[in-house]
Amino acid sequence: MKTLNNEATAWLKISVFLLALIPLFKLGISGYFDNLGANPIEKITHRTGYWTLSFLLITLTVTPLRRLTGCLWLTRLRRMLGLFAFFYGCLHFLTYLVLDQFFDWDNILKDIIKRPYITVGFAAFVLLIPLAITSNNRLIKLIGGKQWKLLHCAIYPIAIGGVVHFWWLVKKDITQPLIFSLLLGILLVIRLFYKWRDFVK
Ligand code: HEM
Repeated sequence: MKTLNNEATAWLKISVFLLALIPLFKLGISGYFDNLGANPIEKITHRTGYWTLSFLLITLTVTPLRRLTGCLWLTRLRRMLGLFAFFYGCLHFLTYLVLDQFFDWDNILKDIIKRPYITVGFAAFVLLIPLAITSNNRLIKLIGGKQWKLLHCAIYPIAIGGVVHFWWLVKKDITQPLIFSLLLGILLVIRLFYKWRDFVK
């Protein structure tokens, strides 16, 4: 099905919205039943970080998938998926800010300056903010489609920053950062291929 009517699109959006809340729901249930392990703060930081990066990559998958399959309705999910990346990013940052550091601003500043994985994670998060703010139709109109597209290209350095952040903090098992890197690499190569094809057309 290349296109969907309004009703089907609404149902699809509601389903994706509910699916995207599952990681938060699972975390809440684990917290409620005291099932977050010996270090609950670490667990929450890891889970929210994992889902921030996952939603970034899922958002980046939308356009190549739309071009490969011709399913135009996929584009209608992109904004929501990107906002979920921001949502989990906020939870991730707030876990660090409130639960991990208890608003110890001096230490937070020291971390951002001295610990490279925090520096990169923080930069990626800060870059995500203007993308989330400019994701509504009124602002897209206000800044103009071309500038908006250019601004939203920041999703690439953000995703790369997220992967670098993960590599930098991982201690032993590199499976997950490796998988994220491979997926991001594939998505970037597909994107470059389409850019090149549009250019030579
Ligand atoms: C777009 C922004 C970000 C992304 C995509 C991201 C992603 C991740 C990922 C994937 C993990 C590891 C999850 C796992 O082990 O399963 C992680 C861990 C972590 N992140 Fe982030 N992160 C971001 C921003 C930040 C920011 C702004 C901070 C704090 C200022 C931060 C602090 C941490 C900490 C403290 C850990 C755990 C480190 C440890 O295990 O020692 N992250 N993040």
